[in-house]
Amino acid sequence: MTDTVLRVRDLTVSYGTTTAVRHADLEVRRGERVAIVGESGSGKTSLGNAIAGFLEPGTATVTAATLELDGTSIVRTGTGPRIPVRTPGLSMVFQDAMSSLDPVWTIGSQLVAVLRATEKVTKRRARADAIDRLRAVGITDPERVMHARSYELSGGMRQRVMMAIALSSKPSLLIADEPTSALDASLAVGAMELMVDLAEQEGAAVLVISHDIELCRRFTDVVVVMYRGEIVEQIASRDLAEARHPYTRGLLECIPTLQSARLDELPTLESVRARLEGEAA
Ligand SMILES: Nc1ncnc2c1ncn2[C@@H]1O[C@H](COP(=O)(O)OP(=O)(O)OP(=O)(O)O)[C@@H](O)[C@H]1O
Ligand SMILES: [Mg+2]
Repeated sequence: MTDTVLRVRDLTVSYGTTTAVRHADLEVRRGERVAIVGESGSGKTSLGNAIAGFLEPGTATVTAATLELDGTSIVRTGTGPRIPVRTPGLSMVFQDAMSSLDPVWTIGSQLVAVLRATEKVTKRRARADAIDRLRAVGITDPERVMHARSYELSGGMRQRVMMAIALSSKPSLLIADEPTSALDASLAVGAMELMVDLAEQEGAAVLVISHDIELCRRFTDVVVVMYRGEIVEQIASRDLAEARHPYTRGLLECIPTLQSARLDELPTLESVRARLEGEAA
């Protein structure tokens, strides 16, 4: 087993004439937690979806010198229309657990379907596993939840269920696109903590896309900063305070604090960058 879970070299994503990601290089090691941060439109989702294989050839063009998961190439070839297919070893969770879970099917049947797609087991065995999985994500009444549909659960429960489903295929990489941005700040911390803890228990590395650089600093090992389609800095999360790149500094200084809340004008990425460039000149 290689120590590198994800290896990306020179990945570019374009939508017609718009280039959303330019020449991205990225590596995620086994069990590592990596955050992708950057302002809106910087290409985070495009990068995550390109890795997960969630971009349709009809809309987006993805090129990469290397795109490997667990040492195996996951570059998708072919140009015809294609629905997203599951890449073994990779799971993805999205911002909104409500829309990611199917309202028609019970939680149990969705979980059983994923378990049986991953491993050849009887329905009975898969149901027993599903109950164990729900218990493992902190659901105390798994039997009831198995029979429930997504809209019958609270937001927090839905998130746990979504994590149970995502991790039940035993991925080596979990990609989470803005998993906490639909939640208010106090819930976001708990949700992020739950995600990284569960992924760690299951031995999955995490690639989390987020606007919240402070949350990423607390819960990840490495922060990757994107700006206008490019990865401009990759830095150990614990060293983030010492980041020198103007865009990274800009993102850090845009975190509202009690001091900045008193200013007439809140700092923006552009204003911080202009000031830092002025200071450097
Ligand atoms: N399906 C699409 N068709 C055309 N352009 C797109 C498409 N999806 C994204 N883009 C463009 O690609 C660029 C990057 O978008 P992307 O959604 O990857 O950014 P992001 O960093 O995830 O932004 P946000 O923080 O708002 O989610 C933007 O300019 C966006 O307008
Ligand atoms: Mg996005």
